[in-house]
Amino acid sequence: MREKPTMSPSETTPLLLVHVAPQRHRYPHNKLRRAFTFTLGLLLVTALVLFLFPSALLPREGGSLWSYLPWAHPYPESWPNGHGLDYEELQTLLLGTPSAAREREWSKYYTAAPHLAGKNLSQALWTKERWEEFGITDTKIVSYDVYLNYPVDHRLALLEGNKVTFEASLEEDVLEEDSTSGLPDRVPTFHGYSASGNVTAPFVYVNFGTYADFEDLVNANVSLAGKVAIAKYGRIFRGLKVKRAQELGAVGVILYDDPQQDGEFTEENGYKPYPEGPARQPSAVQRGSTQFLSFAPGDPTTPGWPSKPGSDRQDPHDFIPSIPSIPVSYTEVLPLLKALNGHGPKASDFNEWWQGGGLGYKGVQYNIGPSPDDVTINLYNEQEYVTTPIWNVIGVIPGSLPDVVILGNHRDAWIAGGAGDPNSGSAVLNDVIRSFGEALKAGWKPLRTIVFASWDGEEYGLLGSTEWVEDNLPWLSKSNVAYLNVDVSASGTLLRPTASPLLNKLIYEVTGLVQSPNQTVKGQTVRDVWDGHIGTMGSGSDFTAFQDFAGIPSYDLGFTRGRQDPVYHYHSNYDSFDWMQRFGDPQWLYHEASSKIWALAAAKLAETPVLFFNATDYGLGLEEYVDRIRPTAENLPSNMSFDFGPLYDAITKFQRAAIEFDAHGADLTSQLDEDLPWYLWWKKVRLFYLIHEVNSKYKNIERQFLYQPGLDGRNWFKHVVFAPGLWTGYAGTTYPSLVESLEAGDVANAEKWRSIIIERVDAATRLLR
Ligand SMILES: *[C@@H]1O[C@H](CO)[C@@H](O)[C@H](O)[C@H]1NC(C)=O
Ligand SMILES: *[C@@H]1O[C@H](CO)[C@@H](O)[C@H](O)[C@H]1NC(C)=O
Ligand SMILES: *[C@@H]1O[C@H](CO)[C@@H](O)[C@H](O)[C@H]1NC(C)=O
Ligand SMILES: *[C@@H]1O[C@H](CO)[C@@H](O)[C@H](O)[C@H]1NC(C)=O
Ligand SMILES: *[C@@H]1O[C@H](CO)[C@@H](O)[C@H](O)[C@H]1NC(C)=O
Ligand SMILES: *[C@@H]1O[C@H](CO)[C@@H](O)[C@H](O)[C@H]1NC(C)=O
Ligand SMILES: [Zn+2]
Repeated sequence: MREKPTMSPSETTPLLLVHVAPQRHRYPHNKLRRAFTFTLGLLLVTALVLFLFPSALLPREGGSLWSYLPWAHPYPESWPNGHGLDYEELQTLLLGTPSAAREREWSKYYTAAPHLAGKNLSQALWTKERWEEFGITDTKIVSYDVYLNYPVDHRLALLEGNKVTFEASLEEDVLEEDSTSGLPDRVPTFHGYSASGNVTAPFVYVNFGTYADFEDLVNANVSLAGKVAIAKYGRIFRGLKVKRAQELGAVGVILYDDPQQDGEFTEENGYKPYPEGPARQPSAVQRGSTQFLSFAPGDPTTPGWPSKPGSDRQDPHDFIPSIPSIPVSYTEVLPLLKALNGHGPKASDFNEWWQGGGLGYKGVQYNIGPSPDDVTINLYNEQEYVTTPIWNVIGVIPGSLPDVVILGNHRDAWIAGGAGDPNSGSAVLNDVIRSFGEALKAGWKPLRTIVFASWDGEEYGLLGSTEWVEDNLPWLSKSNVAYLNVDVSASGTLLRPTASPLLNKLIYEVTGLVQSPNQTVKGQTVRDVWDGHIGTMGSGSDFTAFQDFAGIPSYDLGFTRGRQDPVYHYHSNYDSFDWMQRFGDPQWLYHEASSKIWALAAAKLAETPVLFFNATDYGLGLEEYVDRIRPTAENLPSNMSFDFGPLYDAITKFQRAAIEFDAHGADLTSQLDEDLPWYLWWKKVRLFYLIHEVNSKYKNIERQFLYQPGLDGRNWFKHVVFAPGLWTGYAGTTYPSLVESLEAGDVANAEKWRSIIIERVDAATRLLR
């Protein structure tokens, strides 16, 4: 964490004006005196300006009082060429320093031993030491006390009457070719935040366990009450599957990865499984959190405030399950699914969402069940719940301005490995920092402050980042211009960014500067190979608190699995160094490209005098998002209707203001290049002041979309444009509470939300005018 500035521009400006103004009003009838006072005031201000101006010429440290005065705004005289490196030199350095070999070496370190949240302090200390070595002298460990669970014991068995017909091992195979798959202290298969319990009950197959899947079951009169639900992973966040099952009376949940989700590379299609081939290792088990992520991330006992020793805590069960759940491999779910053959309706008789399943060739007919009363599952799950420290590592490169650009990646993994999730990002973050360290050694000092974060506890529910944002909210609201997240930097070859539209321009710019690891066409950049699609922000990584709680424009960026890539063993023991070396990124070049993209994005944001944002893109996004949700209103009953017109009108006004505002910013940027004779120094001072104003507006656009009472039914989420889908979790939804009201057929509430959104859009428009 960075020290908070003692004084901000907005605080100092009124103070100085007050000095002059009251005197002017004291003798309203005496013209002479008024003139005298006015002249005196003018002289005083001039004297001040003259006093300040020379000081503006001097190089100064970020923290000095003068640097906070608007007219002495410290875009240094020496800038842009006097900060040790000019921008071109900095860019060359950031493109030249990252090294696949080093990233491989650091990946090897992080993925050598377990590093579950709160369990591996030495990795935090090691990370801190590396960053200090690279030259980030201000590096700290920032710890929070969070509520979470560790696995103790589990069992999954199939019974006929009292007879055990199948006993699951709940273990992943130890592979000779995969050195961490056989560690004696490897992490058992379990779910974060799952409840302890021991249930024996008949069971039901619930497809992907989406809200709609459960609705289909309700409509087909298949009861979940008292049953164990078996669901495939995929389509939505796993915790929401458990949540809905629990609401419908299920007593336990079993989740597994069906090869249906693996595309072309399946054993059924003749591909060999890992470690020989690109198909899924049949014993792989996906761990993961069952928190109700779309309702609130972070420590579920402290929603909205930081988890420190002695913090108030509440019952967590609004945000985590009360029924037990466990993950299994597709091999071990086979006997359970086969036991349903011939019982109840078939998935294939249901709608399109129920079609398909990758285990048909193994004899699974995908009957829904329920199983006969005497065919039951015994699901036993024992979790130890503790309140325990987790450790974020926070490093700071102080800039000349108090504004901050933050780069973050989580360090904790479900397993010893985590070569993709998250340590492909951790290795790359280290190399980004090393690159900036090289720039520091060359005498560079950034214009804006850069903060690096290695989060702990992300996997359970974005704990480290959420608690840190909750802890530092006033400072972040004032100073944080953007948050750049990389979770999995490389698990395939497909670039799939999600971002606030303010950052679209940045992503297009920097991906166009980095060579693609795919040189099928020589010289092609990452931008050339990418389809150019930027998604909206949902959840599932550490940007969530920044974007949705604090209103800080954020992106999440990395190379994920494309259609032509080997199966990625997400959250399983085989997301390992050996898998990465053989299949994921054998040359480590997607790692290297990621570090260059990240470093350049940070540099652009930190160094460009007029922030590298585009408000027009936000305006275009706002309109596109309304287009996207319109069909929801078409599904309303025929006696109801909803008018999007007023919302479009507000957005049109925002767009006009944004176009003008971006043009104004571009104009100021071009004025920076003008060579002025020395006696026109005041023009430069004025320009600095105008740029400062534009930047503080750019910085605050995203904040305008926050609505402090929060979204319906989940008031931790404050952003009226972006949120994770209530029942999807990972995927983003736009205008969340509005769209949810329309889906529920509650037009009155939809109209209330339309007003709230219009009010927020209008506030953003006023800000830009
Ligand atoms: C933490 O991770 C490091 C490196 O991966 C390893 O050397 C160390 O043994 C681990 N510590 C624990 C407690 O597992
Ligand atoms: C779970 O419950 C069953 C009875 O339903 C019992 O036989 C078994 O011992 C229990 N398991 C544990 C580990 O307590
Ligand atoms: C479900 O049950 C209701 C009432 O018992 C019945 O009217 C309906 O036809 C049933 N639906 C199906 C798909 O069986
Ligand atoms: C590599 O680049 C070529 C040419 O641009 C493209 O057709 C191909 O899909 C790319 N392959 C991958 C894996 O990105
Ligand atoms: C629409 O019709 C339904 C019955 O079909 C009724 O319950 C509802 O109150 C009506 N809504 C309005 C806004 O008229
Ligand atoms: C902002 O984005 C719009 C639309 O993408 C584009 O036309 C405009 O040139 C951009 N302006 C700046 C200053 O980047
Ligand atoms: Zn992750």
